[in-house]
Amino acid sequence: MGVLLRGQEIMPIPAVTHPGTGQFVVNASFKISVTGKCDFRVSHAVDRFLQRLSRRTGIPLPNLQNDSAPNFVLTCDSGGEEIQGLEEDESYVLQLTSAGARLQAPDPLGVLHGLQTFLQLVVQGPNGFAVPAMTIKDHPRFPWRGLLIDTARHFMPVAVMKRNLDGMEALKFNVLHWHLSDDQGFRIESNRFPKLQQFGSDGMYYTQAEVRDVIQYARDRGIRVVPEFDVPGHSTSWFVGYPELASAPGPYQIERGWGVFDPAMDVTKDSTYKFLNDFIGEMAGLFPDRYFHIGGDEVNGKQWKNNPQIQDFMQQHGMKDHRDLQAYFNKRLQEMVSKHGKIMVGWDEILHPDLPQEIVVQSWRGQKSLAEAARRSSRGLLSSGYYLDLMFPAVRHYGVDPLSGSTASLAPEEKQRILGGEACMWAEFVTANNIDDRIWPRAAAVAERLWSAQDVKDVDSMYARLQKTSEYLDWLGLKHNANHRLMLQRLRGSSDIQALETLAGVLEPVKEYFREKTGNYDNTTALNRLVDTVHPESDIARQFRGLVDRYLARSSTPEEVQQMRIRLAQWRDNDQKLAPVLQESPLLKEIVPISRDLTTVGATGLQALDYLDHGGRAPTKWRHQQLAFLNDAEKPQAELFDMIVPAVKKLVQATSSQ
Ligand code: ACM
Repeated sequence: MGVLLRGQEIMPIPAVTHPGTGQFVVNASFKISVTGKCDFRVSHAVDRFLQRLSRRTGIPLPNLQNDSAPNFVLTCDSGGEEIQGLEEDESYVLQLTSAGARLQAPDPLGVLHGLQTFLQLVVQGPNGFAVPAMTIKDHPRFPWRGLLIDTARHFMPVAVMKRNLDGMEALKFNVLHWHLSDDQGFRIESNRFPKLQQFGSDGMYYTQAEVRDVIQYARDRGIRVVPEFDVPGHSTSWFVGYPELASAPGPYQIERGWGVFDPAMDVTKDSTYKFLNDFIGEMAGLFPDRYFHIGGDEVNGKQWKNNPQIQDFMQQHGMKDHRDLQAYFNKRLQEMVSKHGKIMVGWDEILHPDLPQEIVVQSWRGQKSLAEAARRSSRGLLSSGYYLDLMFPAVRHYGVDPLSGSTASLAPEEKQRILGGEACMWAEFVTANNIDDRIWPRAAAVAERLWSAQDVKDVDSMYARLQKTSEYLDWLGLKHNANHRLMLQRLRGSSDIQALETLAGVLEPVKEYFREKTGNYDNTTALNRLVDTVHPESDIARQFRGLVDRYLARSSTPEEVQQMRIRLAQWRDNDQKLAPVLQESPLLKEIVPISRDLTTVGATGLQALDYLDHGGRAPTKWRHQQLAFLNDAEKPQAELFDMIVPAVKKLVQATSSQ
């Protein structure tokens, strides 16, 4: 397990921490005062801070600002920008001593960050609730630290957006990338073109009042909101109400399936540009942020190829393929976006010599396009490697750096153009029920990569802090653990979930695009199975792997060996309790074999330990039999991996070489 340095229990790790002596005790005499040129965000943040601190400690902490004897003095030097910008100074200095606390920042954003740091530092000790004495000088490595939430594939109610904004604030994310339209849904009210939401959303869309509310909620938390309207592909839902925008005659229906589809806007018609200009004008007025995302990914060109008028147009303009036509579209689109006062952002497919340098390129396909963009003086964002929907462990995202691979060799001024990155929560297999669990706590690993120094990369420390972060997010009201339990109870049909939890605890969902590729899913499919319920990453399996590795390196303590045996016995015996339940449940029947196999996996691990503990080799025949079984058990069943199997395999393999 990672060693936590005092004062560094938090995520993301601050830039500089100087330890002090003693503690700043949080009790009923806690009094905060605010000085300087603070804006409303600071007073709202102080209210929120006191409510959270009170909730965390159970101590009533009324907001007694300007009390005569404050022990927490907060100073902000400026009111900050009207519209949160990339150049704003997000730094802060937090001084914690046994006599009192001071938080000083040049801008309200630094105050917000410093308050989050304070909240995460609260511990319980001999003096009750307290924060260890220290001085923190902190600032972010990158100015753009985003989370994309796809609300098109599955709609996410406002409450879901808000609690995830709370989580983002805690982790110092500062951009919500709101994916608002795609083939499967158009999720925002347009007054100018109401058939967009009327025909394209199944009634599930945000009113403009709700959007303003979410934007305000985000601004209060130091978070910009960048809307994405994906064009000219990924746009079937637009065509249900406005088929004249498409490159093939309608009628169109909302797409139910997952994948890349043919419909694309007819980008050769002036009427399309007239429509988009009016639409962008309306949305540019609604979203105050300076950046506007136009998607631009995965246009397959099929509708363009099959339309003779479009083919003629391409020929007249000397375009050799659909990429040239998309570049022509992007150029005209960029002029419109710019005319409406916004800077255009698009996925890396938009990168083209004809586009002005001011565009921002968001890479989902690797660092290469970012390096290319930076060399031509455009700015870039990394999302490749940060796709939370692929169900990879946190360590995998943690290891991806915006300035690694192709971008590592950029000149210093080119590196400046890499603005940061965004974790992406695509929602094909995500609902309001399990989205928190798919985002948190893994997104915190990305948050740290984007905030903390490049050399902060100790994986054990990250996992130790991720665990604390997860617990902290529970207190904030995130539902990654609460809904996980509720979903287990739904599967079980009662609250008696202990045995089911034991099994679920060692399982992980299949990775990458495995489920999408089965073709068994669309957005009418219920996502209520065990694969939708288990956490993306099994902490128990990771811890067990650690125990096995130390055991095989002969560095484990007797307690750790005992722990391994207790776990293995628990897994061996679990199916006895669980099997009768599984048999009678339509939702759980598919995991009968996984539960049964866990018995053998546990027993095999114990047998291997017996052989190894007695210094002996196991009979070759036994080893081969067990490995044959484990190789099978390692494959996914019911779209779930048993994550214990690889470690047990290691134990069995070790019985040949002792
Ligand atoms: C993307 O994943 N197509 C942006």
